[in-house]
Amino acid sequence: MPDAKNANQPENSVSPQPQYLQALTGQPALITGASSGIGKAIALGLAKAGADVVVNYIGNPLPAEDVAHEIEMLGRRAMTIEADVSQEDAVERMFADAIQHFGTLHITISNAGLQADAPFDEMTLAQWNKVIGVNLTGQFLTARAAVREFKRRGPQPEISVASGKLLCTSSVHQEIPWAGHVNYATSKGGINMMMRSIAQEVAPLRIRVNAIAPGAIRTPINRAAWDTPQAYDRLMGLVPYLRIGEPDDIARAAAWLVSDAADYITGATLYIDGGMTLYPGFATGG
Ligand code: BGC
Repeated sequence: MPDAKNANQPENSVSPQPQYLQALTGQPALITGASSGIGKAIALGLAKAGADVVVNYIGNPLPAEDVAHEIEMLGRRAMTIEADVSQEDAVERMFADAIQHFGTLHITISNAGLQADAPFDEMTLAQWNKVIGVNLTGQFLTARAAVREFKRRGPQPEISVASGKLLCTSSVHQEIPWAGHVNYATSKGGINMMMRSIAQEVAPLRIRVNAIAPGAIRTPINRAAWDTPQAYDRLMGLVPYLRIGEPDDIARAAAWLVSDAADYITGATLYIDGGMTLYPGFATGG
């Protein structure tokens, strides 16, 4: 319940019930970094919308197998594939295995990402390279393999009016500078221009390329920002909508953006951030 001080404000834990239309039936989808966080939610959301799903992961296979099992419980097909998205041969192998298994891919979500935070003058080259390698080069390798498959297969209008849909997971930090996270913000800024340039290049092929830019979403990557009441209160100073985002908030939007309901949208970034990019510091001043 809201306390007296916030009596005129909404309860900040209320989030919507998922609603998915069966808009992705017959469209195999590959999601990188799908064993946890936003990637896991997107994998499940796309399955709820009818897609069969490739669950990419790195490291421990058990969480990915759990996601695959949940997808199968929804009546869809699923497979798990381990691949380090920053490695060209691993990405190529992953796409070859996925395409062999499902015949083709209609949807790819280049989502895998990580943070390795440090004050700028203490940031090591290894921290820089790791974040750029996974978040930016990894999305390049994933996007390239997806576009190659979309081109090879060509249109299948009985399945989707677009010849393929690529969705990049960016961040509000493609726009909001982020002290202490220069490598991460740079990777997301790079995704923005990469995504739009690819979109321009492949639009004549009817391949749609877009991005989602989540704000503060309740996942392991930012646990420190929400898992104590003090941290949560501080976070709300950055979120005009006054609740943290839930992974399913992202998944519902992603499922729509890769569906034919969003046809004619390409080269766009959809911010899903409860208003974090609205410069909340200016709500009472300026
Ligand atoms: C980061 C999170 C952060 C959020 C909002 C995301 O891209 O991964 O750690 O909470 O941006 O600042």
